[in-house]
Amino acid sequence: MTLKGGLGPPLLPDNLAEKPAEGLAATIYYGRPGTPMPPWKQFMSENEADWIVQKLMTAFPE
Ligand code: HEM
Repeated sequence: MTLKGGLGPPLLPDNLAEKPAEGLAATIYYGRPGTPMPPWKQFMSENEADWIVQKLMTAFPE
């Protein structure tokens, strides 16, 4: 809701700036096995995961 993290890390633009977009999109799509981050591939396409990353990196939602 706030993108400031909690169980997971913060997802604000400053926190993501140094990270490769491709890896972030893979985290969303496939999850991070062994962590609570679940895969979302049942619910979205890889293009949609890319779209979320682009939005997060440029402040989303406003
Ligand atoms: C659509 C919803 C979600 C999105 C877009 C999302 C996105 C992300 C992204 C981009 C990362 C990587 C951050 C980085 O490397 O700096 C991440 C990591 C993580 N997320 Fe999520 N997440 C979502 C939902 C969740 C949920 C529901 C949980 C747990 C209940 C969760 C738990 C975590 C955790 C624990 C990590 C860190 C994994 C590690 O230790 O490497 N996330 N998430």
